[in-house]
Amino acid sequence: MNGLSNRIMSESSLKPLLEDKVAGKEAIFSRFRQYRIDAATREFYADVRVSATDFIYPYFIVDGENEIQPIRTLKGISRFSIDQLLIDLEETVALGIDKILLFGVITDNLKDEIGSAGYNPDSLVCRAVRAIKKHFPQVVIFTDVCLCEYTSHGHCGLLDGEKIDNDSSLPLLAKIALVHAQAGADFVAPSAMMDGQIQALKEILKAHKLDTKVLAYSAKYSSNFYGPFRDAAGSAPSFGDRKTYQMDYRTSHQGIEEIAADIEEGADWVMVKPAQAYLDIIQRASVAFPTVTLAAYQVSGEYALLKNGADAGLINEEQGFLESLTAIKRAGANFIITYYAKDFVRKGL
Ligand code: PBG
Repeated sequence: MNGLSNRIMSESSLKPLLEDKVAGKEAIFSRFRQYRIDAATREFYADVRVSATDFIYPYFIVDGENEIQPIRTLKGISRFSIDQLLIDLEETVALGIDKILLFGVITDNLKDEIGSAGYNPDSLVCRAVRAIKKHFPQVVIFTDVCLCEYTSHGHCGLLDGEKIDNDSSLPLLAKIALVHAQAGADFVAPSAMMDGQIQALKEILKAHKLDTKVLAYSAKYSSNFYGPFRDAAGSAPSFGDRKTYQMDYRTSHQGIEEIAADIEEGADWVMVKPAQAYLDIIQRASVAFPTVTLAAYQVSGEYALLKNGADAGLINEEQGFLESLTAIKRAGANFIITYYAKDFVRKGL
């Protein structure tokens, strides 16, 4: 390793190693290429690495039995009925991925204006949580807490005419979180972007003496990159868009304020979403709140673009994902929610 191996890995190690002479004069520039001379040396100096335990793997669950429904817009990802989910989980766990995020996907006839399918104690997600905990007690379960998967109008909160009403949505979000927590979820993850939702969840969990943690989708931007997810979850809004509750991507300081507010309300972990196009927000959050665990969500559109780009022969799939996931971690994310988690480990990246 060219005598580099005893050097301490820190910023200060990036200094010239030799008394350089160039054309008989003292060198006035730093020599960096010595850190890249071969694969072993590059490996040695890499200070950011992504591994299986960094991942939270999303699952879409449907009712029924023997259901494996490939999602057209999310290549390689399927919706599973609970029995099939348990089979798939065997592989996930064997790969060393021990954290999963659950989304319930129900048929339109079960949806109503107030999303009641979401807070039924025997809901799809609750049944899935109980089954997973029974067979894989070591798996850390996160559940998405939102109304859009369960409302007939597809919005993340209750309607008041054509407006999405903040405060009347809070008790319903709290009820969804409560049934998930009672079923055994380790983390509930509210993604509705209603103000005060973290406080509402913390209060109900505390009142029921549950120690379930809250992963807050704190800086969640209204993004064009959620398209494939809405197809996967059948959760596209039937009218309008989510711009009155999800953040405007032209705001940066507000992202930090949203996170600060969620921490204030008691969030255990916080999130920036999407990830790839929001590395600046991830970085700022990790610097502003160094002691708070930060997750970042490489969302459906970000995954699908990379995957389809690779399939079209434009980029190398493995190397493209490795680079983008490394960048998300380098920006400061402690954990990454990604549809690529299983492939990442399968391919030995
Ligand atoms: C629910 C929710 C969404 C995503 C996660 N939770 C969709 C949305 O806000 O419209 C998006 C995840 C993805 O695109 O992978 N509110």
